[in-house]
Amino acid sequence: MATTNVVGSPGEVSPSLPVSTTMMMLSLSALLVCCAVYAVEWAWWRPRRQGRVLRSQGVGGTTYCSLAGDAPLSERLERVARSRPLPLGCHDVVPRAMPLFYQTVKQHGKTSITWFGPVPRVTITKPQLVREVLSNKLGHFGKLKLGRLQRRLHNGVGSHEGEKWAKHRRIINPAFHQEKLKNALRTGKAACDDLLGLLLESNMEHCKGNGGDSGTGITTDDLIGECKLFYVAGMETTSVLLTWTMVVLCMHPEWQERARDEVIHAFGDRTPEYDGLSRLRIVTMVLYEVLRLYTPLTALHRRTETSTELGGVRYPAGVVLTLPLLCVHHDKDVWGPDADEFRPERFAEGVFRASRDAPAFFPFGWGPRTCLAQNFALLEAKMGISMILQRFVIELSPAYSHAPVSVGLLKPEHGAQVRLKRLPRAS
Ligand code: HEM
Repeated sequence: MATTNVVGSPGEVSPSLPVSTTMMMLSLSALLVCCAVYAVEWAWWRPRRQGRVLRSQGVGGTTYCSLAGDAPLSERLERVARSRPLPLGCHDVVPRAMPLFYQTVKQHGKTSITWFGPVPRVTITKPQLVREVLSNKLGHFGKLKLGRLQRRLHNGVGSHEGEKWAKHRRIINPAFHQEKLKNALRTGKAACDDLLGLLLESNMEHCKGNGGDSGTGITTDDLIGECKLFYVAGMETTSVLLTWTMVVLCMHPEWQERARDEVIHAFGDRTPEYDGLSRLRIVTMVLYEVLRLYTPLTALHRRTETSTELGGVRYPAGVVLTLPLLCVHHDKDVWGPDADEFRPERFAEGVFRASRDAPAFFPFGWGPRTCLAQNFALLEAKMGISMILQRFVIELSPAYSHAPVSVGLLKPEHGAQVRLKRLPRAS
């Protein structure tokens, strides 16, 4: 058998190792060196390189110092921000709900860098750039990928890309068409479970349109993913919208009264129906203003797939672009000096006229991936708030503490304690 000599101390011959063992040790060492180089590249060289590229183009921000990125800074700022509630009636929620973004934008400008671990994350707050990112159909800005975790959470149209996304969106879209929603409301079916019925119907119609070939529709596995997504994307978003609407209407009783007058004028004691809900003007303005001030999804994220130009800056691949919708909705340069005030009348002439700049109202996103259940969500919210206003006067309980916090969605940190006083005329 071939052997090799390994030399120990001078004059001493160590026991020889077989060649195969030596080869194995050499391969292992090479592998360890590769892993080490990859780790240093991932955790140190690449972030430093990407940071330099961005800074050289005038994008300021925090400095990358460790694997944790800005997590410790964010934690510190959040602790301070959460230590106190906001005064009742104050809608200046950004410093409390998004302290890291608030501070970096204030210090480094509207396009600025923070670090999500070793990944540079650039905050984009100019409405025209937000629109540009969300409208891009060329695949330059992809959704963040959660890998296997995605499947466990919800594997639906919201996380698909390319052909699969286009097909699912084409099939799901008709489920939320006006006529379908109208019928669902008439038969009292506008609940989450019944969306499955609408979805199955839409899938069948799609297959029929393709010569009855069931292979052209969504698979059972994918349907389950879509249902999970509807549940996750649909339930909480609409319920936090309703929650904030109730809280805000308690803070502004004059608007509560105006909204109630409109609802009672439209429906009396009857259950609200589709056409009547579509005509509600004050309630719609109130809901829009709540969506602006208390945007349920506080931020959207995209990742540059290739080196891409945006707003005069060339971003390398692998940069996360954060679009903090809540910050955009509170920006005084966009909405005027009263941006932090509750003034539903700013929506009197529609959403496009409400902001100074061209469109800057993004509670449902923008572009091809805009919320496909936006009309359904607004309908649900109008229905919910109308039925409450028909029956009750709402007041804040003395236990309520105004503490908006961003935990995936914008929520009241300690709950929303309200008192409902039954109206004398309510049945
Ligand atoms: C007030 C309520 C809601 C708000 C504020 C809201 C907000 C949003 C936003 C901002 C997006 C865009 C995400 C992105 O671009 O990354 C989105 C997408 C989506 N929403 Fe909603 N949503 C609401 C209600 C609902 C409901 C009730 C459903 C379903 C029943 C739903 C289903 C979806 C789906 C499937 C997408 C993904 C669309 C795609 O990627 O093509 N949403 N939503």
